[in-house]
Amino acid sequence: MAKMRADFIWMNGEIIPWDQAQVHVFTHALHYGSSTFEGIRAYETPDGPAIFRGREHYERLLFSCKVARIPSPLTVDEWMDVTIRVLQANKLRSAYVRPLVFRGYNTLGVDGRGCPVDAIVATVPWGRYLGTDAIENGIDVQVSSWRRMAPNMLSPMAKIGGQYVSSQNIVIEAKDNGFSEGIALDGNGQISEGSGENIFIIHKGVIYTPPLSSSILGGITRDSAMTIAKDLGYEVKEASMSREMLYLADEIFFTGTAAEITPVRSVDRMPVGDGKRGPITKAVQEVFFGIVEDGAPDKWNWLTHVKLG
Ligand SMILES: Cc1ncc(COP(=O)(O)O)c(C=O)c1O
Repeated sequence: MAKMRADFIWMNGEIIPWDQAQVHVFTHALHYGSSTFEGIRAYETPDGPAIFRGREHYERLLFSCKVARIPSPLTVDEWMDVTIRVLQANKLRSAYVRPLVFRGYNTLGVDGRGCPVDAIVATVPWGRYLGTDAIENGIDVQVSSWRRMAPNMLSPMAKIGGQYVSSQNIVIEAKDNGFSEGIALDGNGQISEGSGENIFIIHKGVIYTPPLSSSILGGITRDSAMTIAKDLGYEVKEASMSREMLYLADEIFFTGTAAEITPVRSVDRMPVGDGKRGPITKAVQEVFFGIVEDGAPDKWNWLTHVKLG
């Protein structure tokens, strides 16, 4: 696979050529995971590139920085401004945007507060995360043997680098077992989420999703799917659920910036419903992709359009 790259990247206040964005191997974050990050998409719309819910992503980044005690060098407005400028510099019509704030190089004490705060915003071309036919035909997943981190241990609601060892365990195990993704239960054995996706379960026409208290990241795509589903007239409930709900479900879908809205067609080799994308999943997808890609009215003001000179 070709290395992800672009022509330019923003680092510590400047837009510089991609290959110049370097760090020392004694960078604190490399050793202890002392970083916070976001994953944001810029979609190609008929009116040019548009950042999807950028402000909400940067508000979450500031929350992650607060929890990790890594002060954000920029405000939400400044992060948005930098993101627009990097997209423009790279002339990208659609992109994955990766802001990262991390403890840099000074000393190796575990308390990294004596290390400088470094930051980047990268924008790179990127396609469908779970494969192109996943959006229509769905993916096969397993319940992970790994639990999501408990909230009295780490901070599942924050995107902190070191915490993503948990997600790596979940997705690597799933792929080694022949699945596309894993679903982790929380410390109490209730359904939590995928390695980088929130989960929705549809049963008898009602849409359920685990609450924040089930060790999930409060996903921005999750919030978007809930907004769309309610607007379509469906009942949406945040409910703590046991594993067997996965086997009882008529439909299941994942949401995430990377996964977008992806149907799940089997769990633990048992088909979900009739093993095909269900009608409610399709209806939510159509509204979502209509707004982000096909120029449907942006009724919730989710898009920030970017002018490419
Ligand atoms: C652990 C985890 N859960 C869920 C999500 C989905 O969140 P969002 O829709 O904001 O991308 C992500 C991605 O950021 C994630 O890393």
